[in-house]
Amino acid sequence: MIATLSTVPFVDLSLQHAPIKGDINQAIAQVLDHGGYILGPEVKAFEENFAAACGVAYGIGVGSGTEAIALGLQAMGIGPGDEVILPANTFIATVVGVDRVGAKTVLVDCDPETALLDLAAAAAAITDKTKVILPVHLYGQLVSPKGLLDLAERTGVKIFEDASQAHLATRDGYTAGTIGTATAFSFYPGKNLGAMGDGGMVVTSDERVANKVRSLRNYGAPRKYFHEDRGTNSRLDTIQAAILDVKLPRLSTWNAQRNQAAQWYDEKLRSLAPQGIKPMVNRAESGHIYHLYVVRVGETCKLNRDQLQDRLKEKGVMTGIHYPIPCHLQPGYVDMGWGPGSFPIAEALGGEILSLPMFPGLDEDRGNRVVAAIGEAIAEQ
Ligand SMILES: Cc1ncc(COP(=O)(O)O)c(C=O)c1O
Repeated sequence: MIATLSTVPFVDLSLQHAPIKGDINQAIAQVLDHGGYILGPEVKAFEENFAAACGVAYGIGVGSGTEAIALGLQAMGIGPGDEVILPANTFIATVVGVDRVGAKTVLVDCDPETALLDLAAAAAAITDKTKVILPVHLYGQLVSPKGLLDLAERTGVKIFEDASQAHLATRDGYTAGTIGTATAFSFYPGKNLGAMGDGGMVVTSDERVANKVRSLRNYGAPRKYFHEDRGTNSRLDTIQAAILDVKLPRLSTWNAQRNQAAQWYDEKLRSLAPQGIKPMVNRAESGHIYHLYVVRVGETCKLNRDQLQDRLKEKGVMTGIHYPIPCHLQPGYVDMGWGPGSFPIAEALGGEILSLPMFPGLDEDRGNRVVAAIGEAIAEQ
């Protein structure tokens, strides 16, 4: 592919960063000046600001989203002998987090229209060992908060949210982070709120869980050289916290821009429905923060997903796949005990989903170019 003016990248972070470069440089310089690189004042400030933005009492900055899942579950007392239910079509990090505490991952299928955890399947998978249901707010859309809370109330099972793709996403009056006992966020650079390196956070309104995560991330030491827990070293870097705190006040605007771009896509893609192109359904309306905009390339399309992705690349439109292989079919995880056919919807989606360019600042003109390129690619077949 030759990059031209009409190329549409999958993600363009420079649009986000250019207007705040001065503020970011200043925030980094401040850390250099005071030298508190580990758990400096910027970490505490960002923890408080992000927790407040989510509407919860506590935020504890950790090294990554994966660590946020592991440490959050450990702080809730989850460990060997416990079962944790989660969707088969998530990024593998969700399973890694559960593995880390020694609990058993129990996978379930997803809803074909939204790709979100199938709550009926989750309910059916509950055993007397189930301690946690771990919904993943995939692509920036919350799993039904009412459905989750109802299930938790009926069964006594706790909720732990993986909101790595859902910073400030809302649905039915709930914000990501306010549904479960605790919630994990990732600040991987490409996320809606991204650092300039790795980072993550556990948010919770449970003081005991918050104190435990704070200890666990710092060698299990609630105070220096006193190790109450078997912890680890997984702290959010001060420089990353400083950068994230510059970005946080812009997050709602960026999320709204993504939602607007998604509305353009929805409108323009309607004409391609007869061609087999079907966007994932949005049940959260303006609360969907579109970390990713995903379409399904159905069987009626003249091109399969991989062919369409290749044709789009030739036309300068870059896309992604989230995710091509469900967790149970990943080579390193076949010993979990499932195989092909175990989760038919997740498996079908893996072969058909395509993530279109999506980032704040994606304007209508570029959205038009993406949709036109899809239409041309199919027509040329
Ligand atoms: C759904 C989901 N869970 C967990 C993670 C892990 O986050 P991190 O890369 O910060 O470890 C990610 C992102 O990478 C994710 O998308």
